[in-house]
Amino acid sequence: MTDKLGIAIVGCGFMGRRHMLGFNALHKAGKLEGELVALLDINAETANKLADETFTLMGARPDIYTSIDELLKDDRVEAIDIVTDPRTHHTIAIKAMEAGRHVLCEKPLALTMKTGRMMVEAAERTGMVLGTAENYRRGGANRVAKAVIDSGMLGKLHLMLEFWAGGDDKIIISKWRHMKDTGAIGLDMSIHYADIIEYYVGPIERVWGRGIIAEPTRTTADGSETITPTGEDALFASMQTKDGVDVQYTYLPSGLGKRYQQRSLHGTLGSMTVPPDRSDGDVVVHLADRELIGSELIAELKKRGAFININEVTRAVLGPDGTGGKGAAWADVDAGYLAVEIADFIDAVMQKRAPEVDGIGGLRALAVVYAILESGVAKREVSVNEVLDGRLHAYQDEIDAAMDNLKG
Ligand SMILES: NC(=O)c1ccc[n+]([C@@H]2O[C@H](COP(=O)([O-])OP(=O)(O)OC[C@H]3O[C@@H](n4cnc5c(N)ncnc54)[C@H](O)[C@@H]3O)[C@@H](O)[C@H]2O)c1
Repeated sequence: MTDKLGIAIVGCGFMGRRHMLGFNALHKAGKLEGELVALLDINAETANKLADETFTLMGARPDIYTSIDELLKDDRVEAIDIVTDPRTHHTIAIKAMEAGRHVLCEKPLALTMKTGRMMVEAAERTGMVLGTAENYRRGGANRVAKAVIDSGMLGKLHLMLEFWAGGDDKIIISKWRHMKDTGAIGLDMSIHYADIIEYYVGPIERVWGRGIIAEPTRTTADGSETITPTGEDALFASMQTKDGVDVQYTYLPSGLGKRYQQRSLHGTLGSMTVPPDRSDGDVVVHLADRELIGSELIAELKKRGAFININEVTRAVLGPDGTGGKGAAWADVDAGYLAVEIADFIDAVMQKRAPEVDGIGGLRALAVVYAILESGVAKREVSVNEVLDGRLHAYQDEIDAAMDNLKG
């Protein structure tokens, strides 16, 4: 055994491959403090294909497994990186933690609050590190925006706008992303934004909103197959934070024509717009008498002694400003974000500290999204706490029942 943390990727599909590219970005930058020793997928061909690509890129071929029980017999595996579809996260994570393995788990932490709480409880019981892979916040623009907020440059914050409207009736990435029982796209994408909102403006306390199925049928890009979604693709909400900031939230991946996207903050002294995640756009701050952008904004933040969370690993994989630089390829920027979250998890295990987004952080993002969906069913304003502690769950009952049937 080396002094590097032995890690296995569990789930080698669309995102599992991107996680491998995150490991590779760290490897190329000389910042990989772990070793990718194994890959697990229930589909052996999928795992083998990724192992081949790993060998081509990183010069070592991870061992292949098709069952979690077999994988956990491998002593080199000290931690697992779960990148399976959300319905399976809790079963795999709990089994691994009970077998003494640390866990990094893709968002959503779990498919429901009940299963997410089971994961957090397992982490507490076993003492294993449980991290949630929330990648968006790792990019330079979000780090600068957070520093602007914390510096007080915008004064007292009144409003955050997180807005996406526009799309079409095509299946978004995979069929499971349109079914309530497997984690529909409204939930899948809103988890990202819930994490960003709480990262920026702190805990959400109250929520009034609902989810809808905006596209009653969705079709493959080539038109060969049409499905009838059972899960919400769109979520709308008005929320308030513990500190009294109002948040207006929209995710609507429907409506042909132009797509509108905005992340902005509005305070007594100024406003700020933040570019789309993984883009090379600029954070722009408007104060009463001036606009701050690029190096001017960074200089102002430095003058105010603000902390910008762009660490050594981020600089190594995404350049000095943590964005990948102007015109960088999307795939490289994506791999960079994932590299930063993987490095944070490895360091957390090594240093025996909590990762930046731990299990509770992942559970909170899930609670914010379910508060929107539960509010739509209850037809009233709901508190995030009643979703977190399990008092409110009507929307989720059907999903929990489907997961229980799966086990039986
Ligand atoms: N952070 C992001 O930007 C981002 C982007 C895409 C997906 N995701 C998340 O990543 C996860 C995976 O999504 P995806 O698009 O890769 O899904 P996918 O369907 O493409 O891949 C999932 C893989 O897991 C395998 N699998 C299923 N059950 C398994 C089990 N019990 N044991 C081992 N392998 C199993 C499948 O065979 C498949 O290869 C989801 O939680 C999703 O929300 C995150």
